[in-house]
Amino acid sequence: MNELLLTDDERDRAGARLLALLDGYERGLPKAEILPEPDRAKLAGLLATPMPEQGVGVDALFDRWEDTILPSSTTVAHPRFLAYVLGPPNGIAPYAEAVAAAINQNCNFWQLSPAASVVERSVLEWLASVVGFPSTAKGILTGGGSLATLQALATALHDRVPDFHATGLQRDAAPLVVYTSVEAHRSVDKAAAILGIGLDNVRHIATDGEHRMDVHRLRAAIEQDRRDGLRPWCVVATCGTVSTGSVDPLDAIADLCEDQDLWLHVDGAYGALFLLSEGMRELMGGCARADSITLDPHKLLYAPLEAGCLLVRDGAKLRDAYAFDSSYLTVAEDPLMTDYMDYGPQLSRSFKAFKVWSALQAFGVDAFRKANERTLALARHLAEGIEATEGLTLLAPVTLTAVCFAVDGLPDHGPLLQELAAENIALLGPVVVQGKRGIRACVTNHRTSTADIDLILDRLRRQAG
Ligand SMILES: Cc1ncc(COP(=O)(O)O)c(C=O)c1O
Repeated sequence: MNELLLTDDERDRAGARLLALLDGYERGLPKAEILPEPDRAKLAGLLATPMPEQGVGVDALFDRWEDTILPSSTTVAHPRFLAYVLGPPNGIAPYAEAVAAAINQNCNFWQLSPAASVVERSVLEWLASVVGFPSTAKGILTGGGSLATLQALATALHDRVPDFHATGLQRDAAPLVVYTSVEAHRSVDKAAAILGIGLDNVRHIATDGEHRMDVHRLRAAIEQDRRDGLRPWCVVATCGTVSTGSVDPLDAIADLCEDQDLWLHVDGAYGALFLLSEGMRELMGGCARADSITLDPHKLLYAPLEAGCLLVRDGAKLRDAYAFDSSYLTVAEDPLMTDYMDYGPQLSRSFKAFKVWSALQAFGVDAFRKANERTLALARHLAEGIEATEGLTLLAPVTLTAVCFAVDGLPDHGPLLQELAAENIALLGPVVVQGKRGIRACVTNHRTSTADIDLILDRLRRQAG
């Protein structure tokens, strides 16, 4: 008897309970509270109760999930969950995750995960084609956009700093400088701080009237730093800023980076996968000129957390940055397979590509394209409703799906945000746009419908009236 396995009967029972749980969850979503009040007593009870010496068994475990875990969990899959850039998982996600757990492939070197190695490669090659990268590109799936940017900047350090692996940043050399905009995501600062660049060496370039990096100021800052004896090294442009969804002028920035010999990383965690639609090429086609790019399948491909992605145009540079010899990992080279331990910092790694690949197989690329186009249209619909309402003001142009607005004369939007959540109208988020406080709805949700947006608009009209 193995106490860590289920008996045949228990497996039947767990399967039935799981199906019932998933079915009940799905059917309950329209009426679910978006932000349920956590049951603090029960959650505190979790902490106060020692781990059982003897297991409670399948049924009691499912009871606990249903009684304690689910009711105190935010309903991210609700159609009016429009806070942050966080979408609900796609429909095949729970099943793909269950299978991935069962086969537990270790995506470090290919003998431990041959099919997984090829599946990840196929996802990465497809993502590279969406971005418009050449066939030299290589990448890796990551724990999210923040990690992809961290791994990208480490790659850029390795590429641009002589002997980086041997001496790191400890050589007696002038500080390296990284440039990004005031609208960039905090993950850029975080990466610079973690990698030892130092926040003092991150330039936050001012933006234009549409919240895009001002390329003239970028050039001026680079030139000033060169005059000061510093080492301009890397520019991080954003394709879809987190607050307003603005897209930096990628082509002009790429021209400048070429001219100044700087590594160009594009943070496309929020926006770059809108490139699935041909219509977005004009706005964000410059992504194809980056040295590296961050994408986030757990946003616009609606993969369940976590699934980020780093792509590097010249894949050899990614491998150079991360490949280390290790005698105990004896691996035979194979042209079909990739050893992902040589493309990122992790050794043991989960099979993240499975859920991304499975959803693309199950629903097809066009389904994701349509979902993204629907969210863009819904964001425009919301913005038009706001513009047409006296007492509501848009705080920024709506480029993608982030809609930032304020209720005129309302000094603090916090209580309104709380009321909207308490009335189950919607979960929206706070935003500050060039010093103006307001609300941000990010329609990055494939479940949202026009009726949902109209319900929100009606409530906002009452507030403004
Ligand atoms: C522009 C941008 N960059 C980076 C991130 C961070 O991505 P993640 O949460 O996957 O680490 C986000 C998240 O919303 C984002 O919008």
